[in-house]
Amino acid sequence: MPRRVSIHDLRAMKQRGEKIAMVTCYDYTSAKIVDALGFPIMLVGDSLGMVVLGHESTLRVTLDMMIHHCRAVSRAAKKSMIVIDLPFASYSSSDLPTSLENARRAMAEGGAQAVKVEGGRRMGPVVGTLVASGIPVMGHIGLTPQSIHMIGGYRVQGRTKEAADRLIAAAQALEEAGAFAIVLELVPAPLAEQLSKMLSIPTIGIGAGPACDGQVQVFHDIMGMYEDFLPKHAHRYGNVAQVIRQAAKAYKDDVEQGRFPTAQHSFDMDSVLDGKIGGDTPHGGAK
Ligand code: KIV
Repeated sequence: MPRRVSIHDLRAMKQRGEKIAMVTCYDYTSAKIVDALGFPIMLVGDSLGMVVLGHESTLRVTLDMMIHHCRAVSRAAKKSMIVIDLPFASYSSSDLPTSLENARRAMAEGGAQAVKVEGGRRMGPVVGTLVASGIPVMGHIGLTPQSIHMIGGYRVQGRTKEAADRLIAAAQALEEAGAFAIVLELVPAPLAEQLSKMLSIPTIGIGAGPACDGQVQVFHDIMGMYEDFLPKHAHRYGNVAQVIRQAAKAYKDDVEQGRFPTAQHSFDMDSVLDGKIGGDTPHGGAK
């Protein structure tokens, strides 16, 4: 049984200068592929609200939805560390008991090894409370999509001296509170480089340039599965939507033209009498 990646492994990777690859995962099938490839971290991100469930933002995602998807991922992921996003308004420094209970559910019911929370200095008490209860916490600063209505749009953060100073203070506060890593989203590359040098915990960038200790991307963006839009920071490594379109069309055409199923996919009476048909294979099919 392979050992699972721990927060100590991630810090050691930073110290050795090894880049940390992280990707979102929302289901069993993709998590199995990602785990086998040896990604140190997979994130059950609340971006699932957009790329899986079709909402306009991440704000509609509930803790129950996050746990549902995380359980599927945790059935597949045996080596990667699974980080689960605590969703919108499920944590706050003004209600630490509820924050702790929700993080406990995310870990215990979802099967994650860590949680991620969005926000800067104001998240210090939340991070401190969770860490004190044995819950590893990843911070997330810069563009924090759960606060989109406070921020006023999906734009790069920390561009002015004051804004950069606020991000520096936020990163320091999160490290001091005990976060084991921090996601930097839509942060100018020079500022992300400064933060990565300043912190002893790893920084994981998304739209934050190449100097971060690691990178995270949304699975559906890099696979070319989500076609509504492609963020500037993402690169399509595949064109899975096109592969699905071609395969689905070929199947539809075959059914409509009577080319599928063939004898190869069908069963004769002897098979039935031999008792070979039953629910003993995946999807309840027969061998
Ligand atoms: O939900 C998500 O996918 C995220 C990443 C963009 C970091 O939080």
